[in-house]
Amino acid sequence: MSAAYVVFFLAAALAAACGAEAALVEHTFVVSQMKMHHMCNDSLVTLVNGQFPGPTIEVTEGDSVVVHVINKSPRGVTIHWHGVKQHNNCWADGPAMITQCPIPPNKNFTYRFNVIGQEGTLWWHAHIGFLRATIHGALIIRPRLGPNSYPFPKPDQEITIVIGEWFDMDLFELYEKTENRIYGDIPLSPTINGMLGDFNNCSGVTEDSYKLDVEQGKTYLLRIVNAGVDKAYNLKIAGHKFTVVAADANYVKPYTTDIIAIASGETFDALVIADAPPGRYYMVAQAVQTTEPITQKRVLMSRGIVSYNPMKWSGDDTLEIMAPELPDWHDESPSFYFHGNLTSLLPQTVPSNIDEHMFMALRSGYNCLYGGAPHCTVTMINNISFQHPSTMSLLQAHYYHTMRNISSLLEYPIGPPMLDFNQTRTATATLVKKLRYNSTVEIVLQGPPGQMSYTNPMHLHGHDFFILAQGLGYYNPEKDVQKYNLVNPSVKNTAHVPMNGWTVIRFVASNPGVWFFHCHTEHHSSSGMAMAFVVEDGPTVETTLPPPPTYYPSCGGQNSIVEYV
Ligand code: C2O
Repeated sequence: MSAAYVVFFLAAALAAACGAEAALVEHTFVVSQMKMHHMCNDSLVTLVNGQFPGPTIEVTEGDSVVVHVINKSPRGVTIHWHGVKQHNNCWADGPAMITQCPIPPNKNFTYRFNVIGQEGTLWWHAHIGFLRATIHGALIIRPRLGPNSYPFPKPDQEITIVIGEWFDMDLFELYEKTENRIYGDIPLSPTINGMLGDFNNCSGVTEDSYKLDVEQGKTYLLRIVNAGVDKAYNLKIAGHKFTVVAADANYVKPYTTDIIAIASGETFDALVIADAPPGRYYMVAQAVQTTEPITQKRVLMSRGIVSYNPMKWSGDDTLEIMAPELPDWHDESPSFYFHGNLTSLLPQTVPSNIDEHMFMALRSGYNCLYGGAPHCTVTMINNISFQHPSTMSLLQAHYYHTMRNISSLLEYPIGPPMLDFNQTRTATATLVKKLRYNSTVEIVLQGPPGQMSYTNPMHLHGHDFFILAQGLGYYNPEKDVQKYNLVNPSVKNTAHVPMNGWTVIRFVASNPGVWFFHCHTEHHSSSGMAMAFVVEDGPTVETTLPPPPTYYPSCGGQNSIVEYV
């Protein structure tokens, strides 16, 4: 056997042992506006390929993804690959004015990235204003060795469940309001895979419900995404249980529950066995909403229907659809317990030498500088409300060493944390924190206290983090370190900070570039609950931010998001 032949033979054997070779997964996303009719109204929405939710991207771990975005809408757009680690590839991350200027109308831009070392469900969405309300879709990453290598019983079928939100209003207007710190409206209804469901009707016309047909005894892997811009949801299926096996594309120790409490930005993979008596069962996504005295709106709910193969029963459509028992729509405790019960499947190596201890008080206040609007809300991290730069993205400024030209730039304050939630002073600035390459960061995320509190799903770009602990009330540095799980903490990209409580996360800044860190509730993010980490280059070529792709949208004369919006 010649040497070349041996090499070929070994390579072939290796490829066979490792499943298919890494592939190139290519998509074209045409962004355009169209009308959709719901609840007696036509609304003009911006969609990818005319779909709501948008197309699902399916890859095998190790694949390369190429997405050509063709912007046929009249506004600027960017796409973010939520949870994809983008190692040394910050240019493809997508948040507007953080890593790139928006893709202008009638222009194209191609995103290229690899999906490595992650398995499960992630998603993609527009990352400019509220556009992600209608521009989003799932990103599914299957193991290279095939479905037999799932660390859980192989499901008979995989089902994607994208929870979204339907706004009966112009999303650009909503964004402008929020950016100007005028609190906007809540969605009209959640959606399950684009459908508002039969809980919603207008003038006697009932909205369509998502339908899932199941066979008795079969196991389904639900890949669940909360793509909603505003709310956290409790998801239940009457008569059935979920076994959660992954969170944010990281495997978790199987956890059986009858409720999935999913915050905006989170993803969960869960097994559901069709083991109930044949019949029809509601699958309900109900929004969790703040308690009084915050003004009460209405129950927000989308109902889908899980129905067993009618051949095996009477199939009588008049039979009652079983409804799950739901927690009160103000009750945050299911979410607290659900998140508290997540641990990683395998033990983790949690770094113990902390280079940067950070404390972030997540809060909101009132700021009526803008036209004296009636509901002028500003959200902050500590006392600083984030402002997007307007002339150049932060990443470009970082790469070209022109950060200091950004007049609104503010380095993360060194000094005692702001624990005074009552103080009203606020600064509006482009808040950044420089991190040395490979430094270990611990952040205590303190939610607002008291009766008027709310949850905050904090999302970090370009990295996953360990969730070490969560608790209620104020974080206590002496006592609460005892609660840290340093053995098998869950690994996520979005941390649920409980209402009236705190969460501690830890990560290694191992990815050079500028990475947005923000609340995934768009009302909060757009009104200032955000900041950016600037991770410096490491010592080698592989740890240095490469140059930008050849065609990179420029902000041109019309620089700010607002001008494109
Ligand atoms: Cu899914 Cu910066 O967001």
